[in-house]
Parts: sequence; structure tokens; C-alpha cells
Amino acid sequence: MNPFYYGQIVKDENFCRRPELVDNLGGNIKRGQNVYIQGERRTGKSSLIFETIRKLKKIRLIYVDLLEVKSSDDFLKRVVMAVVSMEKSARFFEQIFQKLAHIRPIASVDPLTGLPTLTIDAAVELKPDSIPGVLDLVSSYHSKAKPLVVVFDEFQDVLNLKDARQTLALLRSKVQFQSDIAYVFAGSIRNKMDSIFNDPDSAFFKAAIPIQVGSLKNETFQKFIIGKFETGKRRIKPETLDSIFDICFQIPGDIQQLCGALWDTTSSGKGISEEQLPSALELIFSHELKGYETILNVISRQQLKLLTALARMGGKAPMSSEFLKNSGITQASSVRRALGRLVDLRIIFYYENEYRFINPFFRAWLLNKKL
Ligand SMILES: Nc1ncnc2c1ncn2[C@@H]1O[C@H](COP(=O)(O)OP(=O)(O)OP(=O)(O)O)[C@@H](O)[C@H]1O
Ligand SMILES: [Mg+2]
Repeated sequence: MNPFYYGQIVKDENFCRRPELVDNLGGNIKRGQNVYIQGERRTGKSSLIFETIRKLKKIRLIYVDLLEVKSSDDFLKRVVMAVVSMEKSARFFEQIFQKLAHIRPIASVDPLTGLPTLTIDAAVELKPDSIPGVLDLVSSYHSKAKPLVVVFDEFQDVLNLKDARQTLALLRSKVQFQSDIAYVFAGSIRNKMDSIFNDPDSAFFKAAIPIQVGSLKNETFQKFIIGKFETGKRRIKPETLDSIFDICFQIPGDIQQLCGALWDTTSSGKGISEEQLPSALELIFSHELKGYETILNVISRQQLKLLTALARMGGKAPMSSEFLKNSGITQASSVRRALGRLVDLRIIFYYENEYRFINPFFRAWLLNKKL
């Protein structure tokens, strides 16, 4: 079976150790210190949170995924459902049913598990002023014997709410008084997380300490991957691993995706070298082609010119005369405009003084197609 996992949280033997981060996050959680976790997409933020909490044992987790949260009603219902799914016992269920009476919960039985479950009447629209009540409910599950950690993942999406400011202010005013409870806020869109935690005008200014999640240590992650290939009697050459890491800009999720494709396009007992990379990439391209074509449909010729130039030359100095000469774009101002548009479209992003592709395989495809 293919041992490479991507696009999902990885645990146990599929989690490559990152002890410094686990210790750092774990220590803060134990002290009830609020933290915010920042890192690019697919670097392993969510996996780190779950792994850390698994190691802490005894801790109770309320995990709220805010990806594409639409309204404060949606926000609150997600928090309530996260509380509901914390425990499955009948006693807990009865208790929570009473505590939530004011928002008209509906009791039912989960057809899959046969366990009691609870939903909230869609006709009841929760407003931000329910936030204090819902956070009181959350804190009622905290005790010394079983401390609570509350995780808001993809927290930056709160900014999409119409009443984002009010939501953040109410949230903050509750969180700051629940000083024993560790709140963990994770997010991947740097400028948005920055505007929540580092902007003096934001309610969350300095409300939590930052933890950065970057790439895994190369050596440790390479050993981990070699070990996974060995489970299928495949031996991968070190320089091929280096190429994989380069193609993927060291992003753990993308590295696992490419290794997974290599696994699928090779067989047991075979060595893996550079020669096997093109067919693995082709496999990924075939899965992702629709997405690439959608991008080509929404960008202009000029933007495509810029993208292919970025693919070829990297994004360190797209305004330099050399870059302009090679890209065939005459004006630096056109490059600036096109960069802005491509960032807005979430095709590229700016990180550590460089424009990068959000999806490294799209870059590889552009290079391959020589568009
Ligand atoms: N510690 C790890 N060991 C092995 N693979 C990892 C590790 N962390 C992340 N990955 C790889 O990255 C993928 C994404 O992990 P995860 O969902 O935890 O990242 P994330 O930063 O939360 O991503 P997103 O920004 O999309 O929410 C995993 O499916 C796995 O392929
Ligand atoms: Mg995540």
C-alpha cells in the first residue's frame, strides 16, 4: 500500500518527528498560554497540533475548523458542534442539550454510529452577541484534572465575516479572562494572520505568542521518506530526493504527494533515480490538469508571460532588467501589476523576499509545456 499521505492530517507513524515544535507547543498548552501558529500551506500546522495534543494525553480538545467560514452564525455553529463532538457519552450529551436550550438544539441519532447527536436548528440565526455565552459553555468543560485546549484552525478566515471586527473583539474579551485555557489559533495566510495578531488596531494584538511552522528538517524528513520507500522495497537515490525537495520548494505536503506518485509509477524491488521523476510528475499533472487549465483561462497573456518567466527564473528579482529582458515584458510597472493580480488569484505568493508558486507542480507543468 502506498505509504505516502498528503492533503490530510498525518499521525503516529506517518508523522515525521519535529520534537522542538512539539515541545514548544506542548509547553505553552500546558501553561494555558495562548499561541498562534503560522506557516505556509501544507507545512504541517494541523498535524503538529494533533500530534502535540496526542502526546499531552489527559487534555481535552475542542477543534474548530474555520476554513471558509461564512458568517458569525456559521462561526458559532462550528464552535458549538466542536464542543458537541468532544465527547460521546449519554450524560455529556444530556448536559449539553440543556446548556444549549436557548439556541434550540435538535437531538437525533447518528445513522452511521448509532450514537446520539445534536444539530442546531438552521432557522435559528446566531449573532455575534452569542459569542460570550458560547465561550462560557466552552470554558465550563475546563478543569484542573482535564485541562482544555481550544484550537481555531484556519483562523484567518474569520476576517471574511461581515462583522469580523465585532466577532474578534467579543472573542478576545472572553479569551483573555479564560487564562487557564490554552487557545491555539492556526492560519496559513501570513498577511491576514499578521493583521489579526500584529496590528495595533486589532482586538487580538499581542493576544498570543507566535510559533512558526516551516519545512521539516531536510535530513530528518529524507530519512523518514527513505524508510517509507523501503517498506515497498524501493531504494531511492539521495540526489533524487534532493531534486524532489527542490521541485517541491521543501513543502512537506507536496514532497509527500510527489513521493506518492513515484511509488505509484514504480514497482517493488526497483531503484528510484532521476529517470523516474518525469512519469511521476506526469501522473500528478494528469490529476491536476483541470485546475491548471482553469488558471490559464482566467489570466491574461501578459500574466502568463510573467508566470512562465517566474517558473524559469525564480521570483527573487522580477523587476530587474535581466528578468524583464528574458520575460519579454518591457515595463517594470506591467510586471508589478501582473504580480499583484497573480497574488490576488492565489497563484503565487510572496515569501522571504521571493515570489513563489503556491502549487509547485503547476510551475513544473509550465516548465514542461514550455508555454
Ligand atoms: N510531520 C510531518 N510528517 C510527515 N508529513 C507531514 C508532516 N507534516 C505535514 N506533512 C505533510 O503535509 C501534509 C499537510 O499537513 P497538514 O494538513 O498538517 O498541514 P497544514 O499546514 O495544516 O496545511 P493547510 O495549510 O493546508 O491547512 C500532510 O498530509 C503530509 O503530507
Ligand atoms: Mg491545516
